[in-house]
Amino acid sequence: MCGIIGYTGPLEASKILLEGLAGLEYRGYDSAGIALCMEDSKICLAKKTGKVKNLKDYCNQQITDSSHCGIGHTRWATHGGVTDTNAHPHQAGKVILIHNGIIENYHALTEEFHLENELISQTDSEVAARVLNRLYEGDPLAAIRKLIELLDGSFSFCIMFEDQPGAIYAIRNVSPLVAASTPSGSLIASDLTALIPYTRNYFVVPEQHIVKLTPYKVHLYQLDDTFTKTYPEMMTVNWNMDAAMKNGFPHFMLKEIHEQPDAMGNTILPRINKGLPDFSEDKIPDSIFETCSQVQIIACGTAMHAGMVARAIMQPVLRIPITVSVASEFRYEEPLIDEKSLVIIISQSGETIDTLAALRLAHQCKSTTLAVVNVKGSTIARESDYVFYTHAGPEIAVASTKAYSVQLAALYMIGCRMALVKGKYTKEQAVSFLGDLLDAIPAMETMIAQKESIGNAASHIIHSPDAFFIGRGLDYAFSLEGALKLKEISYIHSEAYAAGELKHGTIALISDQVPVIAIATQQHVYSKTISNIREVKARGAFIILLAKESAVVDDHLADICIRIPDVDDLFTVFPIAVVLQLIAYYASLKKHLDVDQPRNLAKSVTVE
Ligand code: AGP
Repeated sequence: MCGIIGYTGPLEASKILLEGLAGLEYRGYDSAGIALCMEDSKICLAKKTGKVKNLKDYCNQQITDSSHCGIGHTRWATHGGVTDTNAHPHQAGKVILIHNGIIENYHALTEEFHLENELISQTDSEVAARVLNRLYEGDPLAAIRKLIELLDGSFSFCIMFEDQPGAIYAIRNVSPLVAASTPSGSLIASDLTALIPYTRNYFVVPEQHIVKLTPYKVHLYQLDDTFTKTYPEMMTVNWNMDAAMKNGFPHFMLKEIHEQPDAMGNTILPRINKGLPDFSEDKIPDSIFETCSQVQIIACGTAMHAGMVARAIMQPVLRIPITVSVASEFRYEEPLIDEKSLVIIISQSGETIDTLAALRLAHQCKSTTLAVVNVKGSTIARESDYVFYTHAGPEIAVASTKAYSVQLAALYMIGCRMALVKGKYTKEQAVSFLGDLLDAIPAMETMIAQKESIGNAASHIIHSPDAFFIGRGLDYAFSLEGALKLKEISYIHSEAYAAGELKHGTIALISDQVPVIAIATQQHVYSKTISNIREVKARGAFIILLAKESAVVDDHLADICIRIPDVDDLFTVFPIAVVLQLIAYYASLKKHLDVDQPRNLAKSVTVE
């Protein structure tokens, strides 16, 4: 969603803001803008729809004077169309403001403050700026506190006041912000990629606090009566700028597909002790596994699909109910969870707003929460009882790849530890399970090495408006992710179906040359899946079959057969995930689409 950056210090602010915005592009956006506080204390605003490059070209032509303080924004439209006027920053009198999130009561505030004739954009954010301007009487902290008391919704704001040159104020409710004081000046941003070129030390802005940035200091104030000064908990970035660069790859997505074997090793290996899963470094106690009588998994999108695979792996072993819920549904249900439930929350970003709301609901139900999160210090990580950090490094492409694999690795390890603690696995079984998990890593490498031939297979689906992914059992869970990956970056309508369910309606859509990507890696349902493939083949479908190396496949069954190494059935997801990701990647590439920043999508979904 929207990206935020603020800078005040000795360097040229416009350069830092525009570079920072380029670093935030991956979040997904449709317009960008900056506001600079000029030497004469006047404010210079520049806003443009489209890519940050448009804004940069515009600034190069229009801005000639230098500035050392400013704020910048990439907008993902929620209220009002994609126009220069709706782009941020918004200026209202002395207030210049950028916003990430949604102000739910903007309409009521418009009426209460009689703003109807003042507003020049259609955004909720401009309403916040105008209300703040009305409340401002020379004391930024007091005005911001009054504004916050009036707002419903999620937000992070960065604010400049025309009569406070060199100072930037910020506050957040749910939507994330990180800040740092560095020798090059003070910075604040919606995520770390914008700070990394200047520092490795930062802090996550706590909720219910106001941050004030001056050129060499960052101050943090509680929202109490006297604005008590407090000191933030400092954190260190555990990856370097290289990790957020393409490093010779044409796209972040392809680079991140390639990084999966290493990311798997980074996530699994430090947690193996004498061949067994060991979470003592993570401070995750066995008691949470011992006492739970059910597991509730909650996530969105790809993370939810990782949860579907985990359920299929864990439930037959643990013999306790394991439910997977979409966070945006779960948060408005009356869930059947209690203090005996272990709630596993999965999120790459750790900021997805629905997932965060579901976590908070789980706490209200007194359940124990364990988060599987990639971004260190993210809100979900901070609010969960326990955290299992995946070590994928920054994932920049909107389409999740390496984060999915390591989420699976984490969930497999959690399932294994739980089975051990609950006496469902002997030590020998657990050691063997982890051995199979490690064997999946070279199997992923094998498939990455075949990327060109998988790319050729993708050529056969790009002219079709629809594609189907079918499989049974675990293969069906993998299909869900394959279909999501293909649709989000190639814009081909893709559906995942349990192979046995096709006959109950969907097979009506199968006709000549409709691509069906059939996954058949589960031995106990193999012959059933093959029968379902024959049924669609008989209706003219173009079959791309994904099967194990040793599987016996009739010569005429598939138009294309992609073979994966013979790993144990429970672990085929890892090489299959690589194949599905590569099919989607090459389909997008061959359609000349924007692989890393597909239309309408954002990397971190911080609005409902
Ligand atoms: C998938 O490629 C998407 N990026 C999306 O489905 C994503 O997995 C979902 O929005 C959840 O994000 P999170 O893991 O950061 O919570």
